[in-house]
Amino acid sequence: MTQTPPRLEIRNLRRRFGDRDVVNDVSLSIQPGHVTCLLGPSGCGKSTTLRMIAGVEMQDSGEIYVDGNLICDTVFRIPPERRQIGLMFQDFALFPHMSVGDNVAFGLKGRRDEKRARVEHLLSKVGLQWAIDDYPHVLSGGEQQRIALARALAPRPRIMLMDEPFSGLDNRLRDGIRDETLAVLKEEDTAVLLVTHEPEEAMRMADEIALMRDGRIVQQGAPYNIYNAPFDKEAVGFFSDINVIKATSNGALTETPFGPFLTPGFDDGAEVEIIVRPQHVKLDFDRNGHGPSPTPSRGEAARGFVTRARFMGNESLVEFRMEHDGSILKTTVPNVFLPAEETPFWLTIRRDRCFVYKA
Ligand SMILES: Nc1ncnc2c1ncn2[C@@H]1O[C@H](COP(=O)(O)OP(=O)(O)OP(=O)(O)O)[C@@H](O)[C@H]1O
Ligand SMILES: [Mg+2]
Repeated sequence: MTQTPPRLEIRNLRRRFGDRDVVNDVSLSIQPGHVTCLLGPSGCGKSTTLRMIAGVEMQDSGEIYVDGNLICDTVFRIPPERRQIGLMFQDFALFPHMSVGDNVAFGLKGRRDEKRARVEHLLSKVGLQWAIDDYPHVLSGGEQQRIALARALAPRPRIMLMDEPFSGLDNRLRDGIRDETLAVLKEEDTAVLLVTHEPEEAMRMADEIALMRDGRIVQQGAPYNIYNAPFDKEAVGFFSDINVIKATSNGALTETPFGPFLTPGFDDGAEVEIIVRPQHVKLDFDRNGHGPSPTPSRGEAARGFVTRARFMGNESLVEFRMEHDGSILKTTVPNVFLPAEETPFWLTIRRDRCFVYKA
């Protein structure tokens, strides 16, 4: 049995500006109906990668394939308009002098009644059939966004490249439009490469996340795997606040005020960073200066005093000044938990929820 090739595949893409590799050996592939999120900080090369795939920027080396066919390397190049790639960027612009229906029909060829049917079909999918004869300026930001999506999808692109397409929308509107957009793209069996620098957006939308940093993809996988097995400290920190506990490894163990951590494979004397997310620090009340007894899964408890407690909606953020070294540890607790400043608590760290890296 022959395996179907990915809808989009890029191999070893590289782009240099001046003396800097802005995109450095980037490879990835996406199946039809799947969404990959390119997630990374500002300036890491996300848009440049998208522009090369779209064909408006030329790579210095590397190849791009669609359905197994080469569309671009450093010699051969199919022009952008023949790549069957849809684009949706943050600053999408509808044509102000055209009706919504004409906007959506813009890239379509063929008979008038066929075009009309396609436009009506897509507008009904995004819930805006009623607006077909309106002009864009009478519609809200979210409605215009959905029109832009319908327009991008109208010519049945095999691939959709989206560069922070939802960042112009307010939060409440955004969640709904993200979900709707995703549903339409899946139904059309489009392969989607979505650029974002928001981890929540990536986790919400992606089948696969590619973490990008300084022009390279440093880790790639399902959102669950990236969140729970991050590549390094920066990758943990990209998805949530972190606490860092510094210590030194000795005999495959690292002693800390929170008890020992297993650090097999670390040299004696190696500087170790133990990374803990605020929601994985457990709190126990102080009982006459005593905390809970040590356990294998939580280690030993260390005492800290509340410096700040804030209600955040779904959870409360409580910060502690640790007794042993004055360092600050952040914790989050579900619901409302607002202890007074200087209240003592005992803090423990779940061994199966922390990450240990070489400093
Ligand atoms: N035509 C160009 N000439 C020189 N440098 C460029 C050019 N295009 C992009 N760069 C540089 O390449 C780097 C990556 O740019 P890119 O737009 O790909 O980043 P990004 O990851 O999309 O960032 P953001 O999240 O801020 O949009 C930046 O430092 C940018 O200044
Ligand atoms: Mg960008």
